Amino acid sequence: MRNDLPIGVFDSGLGGMTVLREIHRELPAESTIYLGDTARVPYGIRSDETVRKYCAESVSFLKSRGIKLLVVACNTASSVALESIRAQVDIPVVGVIEPGARAAVASGAHSVAVIGTDATIKSGAYQRAITMLNPDAEVRCRPCPLFVPLAEEGWVDDDVAELVARRYLEELRGTGALVLGCTHYPLFRGVIGRVMGPDTLLVDSAVETALEVRRILAADGILNAGEAQPSHEYFVTDKPQKFALLVERFLGRTVENLSKIQLQTEASR
Ligand code: DGL
Repeated sequence: MRNDLPIGVFDSGLGGMTVLREIHRELPAESTIYLGDTARVPYGIRSDETVRKYCAESVSFLKSRGIKLLVVACNTASSVALESIRAQVDIPVVGVIEPGARAAVASGAHSVAVIGTDATIKSGAYQRAITMLNPDAEVRCRPCPLFVPLAEEGWVDDDVAELVARRYLEELRGTGALVLGCTHYPLFRGVIGRVMGPDTLLVDSAVETALEVRRILAADGILNAGEAQPSHEYFVTDKPQKFALLVERFLGRTVENLSKIQLQTEASR
């Protein structure tokens, strides 16, 4: 395995850029390839079978580009497709559920709330991961499906977002930690923080995921030595201009090297 190969990062849309941002911060010498399946976002409302099929197609694309490690930045994909993805590739695969659960448990909170898409919450993946690390933890979960279209629309810190957050989160107030178990939710940090109040710690799996990537690359001896300038490439399956605009608006970064691709479906292979 060559150390200068890029890290592949996959998400259903733009939300995984919150994870990529932390990877860039933690590992500035690494090259990366990001794929957002923007033509088929959201994954969170789909069946497990459909999510697995979409993931298989995206992973095939990243694999064909030559990557040394794959990050499944999408919580929904990590919840329902991590095993099938691991079976498809022979490189390390890092999901976001375990790092998020670790961060929640490390916060020391006894009561932990988890919010995510319908598919993520229904899978029970966070509940299992948290109670595995702390069997005494009291875990409460709530799907918040409307946050994803609101983020895609760019409404993350206005009265509409606040109203939706109040409706979803009222029942979770008072918990010690709240896991933002969806790539898009860190974009609502301000609104969610206001609704939950100062006593609830907001947990975002992105930082912990980046640390996990570093640990694995170091353990496998494939950290980039940093001789060559790192390169960053971005691929989406639809509307590249909208993707670039939203990334610029939310994350304050310009996306260069952005291309639209068509994923090869299983039927046409
Ligand atoms: N990336 C998804 C997740 O983290 C959110 C968007 C979607 O539903 O596809 O669960």
